[in-house]
Amino acid sequence: MNITFTYLPGDGIGPEVGAAAIEVLQAVASKFGHDLNIEHHLVGGAAIDAGQKPLPDDSFESCERTGAILLGAVGGPKWDHLKGEDRPELGSLLPLRKRLNLYANIRPCAPYPAMIDRAPLKRERLEGVDFVVMRELTGGIYFGTKGRDDQGAFDECRYSEAEVRRIAIKAFDLAMTRRKKVTSVDKSNVLETSRLWRETVIDVAKAYPEVELEHLLVDAMTMHMLTRAQDFDVVLTENMFGDILTDEASVLCGSMGVIPSASLSDGRMGMFEPIHGSAPDIAGQGKANPLAMILSAAWMLRLSFGLETEARAIEDAVEAALAENQTTGDLGGALTTAHVGQWIADHVGR
Ligand code: NAD
Ligand code: IPM
Ligand code: MN
Repeated sequence: MNITFTYLPGDGIGPEVGAAAIEVLQAVASKFGHDLNIEHHLVGGAAIDAGQKPLPDDSFESCERTGAILLGAVGGPKWDHLKGEDRPELGSLLPLRKRLNLYANIRPCAPYPAMIDRAPLKRERLEGVDFVVMRELTGGIYFGTKGRDDQGAFDECRYSEAEVRRIAIKAFDLAMTRRKKVTSVDKSNVLETSRLWRETVIDVAKAYPEVELEHLLVDAMTMHMLTRAQDFDVVLTENMFGDILTDEASVLCGSMGVIPSASLSDGRMGMFEPIHGSAPDIAGQGKANPLAMILSAAWMLRLSFGLETEARAIEDAVEAALAENQTTGDLGGALTTAHVGQWIADHVGR
């Protein structure tokens, strides 16, 4: 099969973890007899440094055409002085999500058995944890009017009922394929958008009588995630809360470097990226854990190309690497980013 996708490595550790993921994809393609066609483009600070916009037209055109995007990370201190849409984050990542209507961001949290004794939480808090965060990705405070006036600064938070309804439906549909529970996280004791969120989720739930629905306030959720994470199956939440809660969830899984994500729309369009950022503190040192990026590539094979066996082969190799401690320093291993990529590619077979 022809696997054509857009590759946007971006900034900081993005190109490092990206190179490892590409090596694994090449191994998969050669082992399973596929043709890999990688459309490599600039995004974020890398595009700015090349004298272009954070999201160059040819990069966006490739994303739109291939419908399958593997992205590293954007941003870093070098571009932090820039304002508004001149910034990598606001000028590339957010427009990509918005313009491609990638409103459903799925981020898993299921600690691998090999990680449990190395994680900072006690074993009994982690055993059996297996939930997925369904994060709304194209609305809320990220996309409201922002600005400055003579009083100060403002960021408007808006949600339409339709925006809440469509992400809630995604969460309930996903729960039907899992343990049939949705935990909706909001701040309905304070925010009007959260009141609309809760009312709409309750209404959507009526069509899913088999699914148990729980509501939690986001401040309490940060605590419940550390004390009873086993109780969660699908966690449904708005854009900013999902951003924050998934960094917290990464601690349950051992590192920021192990959680992939898929950002999906109603049609075939999909973008796949680790939940972590460009990690300027470790960039260029071969220390970055490439597993989140490699797992994102596996999700791309599964969700954009229907290649379940190939995706599974990568996930099995990742599990083996963890079991054999073939990992980077964040997980207690001694390998470099590139060596982890090589190990996983070898384990998949080439
Ligand atoms: P970060 O996720 O880049 O890093 C947070 C911490 O986790 C750092 O200590 C880092 O070293 C560590 N870490 C992250 N990924 C790792 C990996 N693969 N292996 C080992 N350790 C890893 O978050 P930050 O430092 O707050 O942000 C840095 C920059 O990245 C900012 O400019 C931010 O805007 C950007 N960012 C981009 C994305 C994205 O492109 N999707 C996501 C988050 C942050
Ligand atoms: C993420 C990142 C982005 C977000 C930033 C870089 C805009 O933190 O993908 O989690 O907040 O969505
Ligand atoms: Mn984030």
